[in-house]
Amino acid sequence: MALLEILKHPDPRLRKKSVAVEKITPLIQRVVDDMFETMYAAPGVGLASIQVDEPYSIVVIDVSEEKDQPLCLINPKITQSDGEMEEEEGCLSVPGIFENVTRAEQITVDALDRKGDPLQIRAEGLLAVCIQHELEHLQGMLFVDKLSRLKQQRIRKRLEKQAKETL
Ligand code: NI
Repeated sequence: MALLEILKHPDPRLRKKSVAVEKITPLIQRVVDDMFETMYAAPGVGLASIQVDEPYSIVVIDVSEEKDQPLCLINPKITQSDGEMEEEEGCLSVPGIFENVTRAEQITVDALDRKGDPLQIRAEGLLAVCIQHELEHLQGMLFVDKLSRLKQQRIRKRLEKQAKETL
């Protein structure tokens, strides 16, 4: 396995849209494994393929305390959503920024697992927030897109400054 580089906002590659996985191959499973390793090492609770410049529609998540409940979603689609909740979110691609975002409280997701078997999850709370956040990455979106324009400009400037300082 290998650690992958996590792209940072405002990297334009974070704006790409993912493409569906046609067939589960050893290469795809390796991407999944590398994404898990990268997410746990970061550390984070979720990671989407677009964040590590992989084109396929893959998300890895683990919101458990003990980090022992890995969830891999390939070609995920939200098929139902209910309610509304506001939670503070962060993102490995937007380091150091935490803001409140409003999302559905309960969702149903259809996907394939790491072996290519169909999977349906009914999620709520932190897991529901996390899945919605990661699925937006697959569409080239970031959670900061939901904030006011002024806040977005401030965040962008702050991250550009950080990036220069670490060069
Ligand atoms: Ni994120």
